[in-house]
Amino acid sequence: MALVTVAELARAAAEGGYAVGAFNLNNMEILQAVIAAAEEERSPVILQASQGGLKYAGIDYIVAMARVAAESASVPVALNLDHGTSFAQAMQCIRQGFSAVMVDGSKLPFEENIALVKRVADVAHAVGVSVEAELGKIGGTEDDIIVAEREATMTDPQEAAEFVKRAQPDLLAVAIGTAHGVYRGEPRLDFERLTSIKNKVDIPLVLHGASGVPDEAIRKACQIGISKINIDTELRVAFSGAVRKTLKDNPGEIDPRKIIGPAREAMQQVVREKMRLFGCSGKA
Ligand code: G3H
Ligand code: ZN
Repeated sequence: MALVTVAELARAAAEGGYAVGAFNLNNMEILQAVIAAAEEERSPVILQASQGGLKYAGIDYIVAMARVAAESASVPVALNLDHGTSFAQAMQCIRQGFSAVMVDGSKLPFEENIALVKRVADVAHAVGVSVEAELGKIGGTEDDIIVAEREATMTDPQEAAEFVKRAQPDLLAVAIGTAHGVYRGEPRLDFERLTSIKNKVDIPLVLHGASGVPDEAIRKACQIGISKINIDTELRVAFSGAVRKTLKDNPGEIDPRKIIGPAREAMQQVVREKMRLFGCSGKA
């Protein structure tokens, strides 16, 4: 089937009390791992490309790969721009065929974040593309986006309500204690804050920086009302770990298929486990 919007998948998840997994796409093996896992788990799935992913693979390749995957898959697939930061880039992605865009104005002052998201949402909604926004700053590093921990601030529930009303995104990414990349200590999520945001905001909420968050915390976040969960770092760890092992076990190996093939299988297992954890398995 054709690509579906992230909003469509996230609204169903919000009603069903589970979260849909969103996985970062940088090459064909990652795509195949994610789609194979989704088919095996009978799960809807979100593919997403960050600015770094688009730079690495090229926007045409990302869209073409995602389209082929969606058309041949028997489960619903969405393609989202992850952490887009400009109006122009969101427009480019919409024009190229993305079914959803995230416009991350979290580094901007409140009013400027609202203005940017509203501007993108007005166009995106006119052509059937959904929009994710972010309020508060999620710590860590996501490709080119770096937020120093001390600068990271959590989402204010009252501001979130005003933000959603005025900017009109379809989904809101919240800062409740997660961070992008590998955690140094155990992440502590602010569930009270999440509950309060959920009570004030009536659109699906998104959890970024979910790699390395303990399973119990993820379950609780889903119960309270997280409907989309982003995973990137754990795919990187699975990929690089498998490649390292293959080359260590077979130092003379030169066939890319034999080097990257096991990495694809390792990522597929990670995605399957996440889908079970998020509760989206069996929901397609
Ligand atoms: O936008 C992507 C994610 O928030 C990924 O976070 O790298 O910690 O899994 P992660
Ligand atoms: Zn993120």
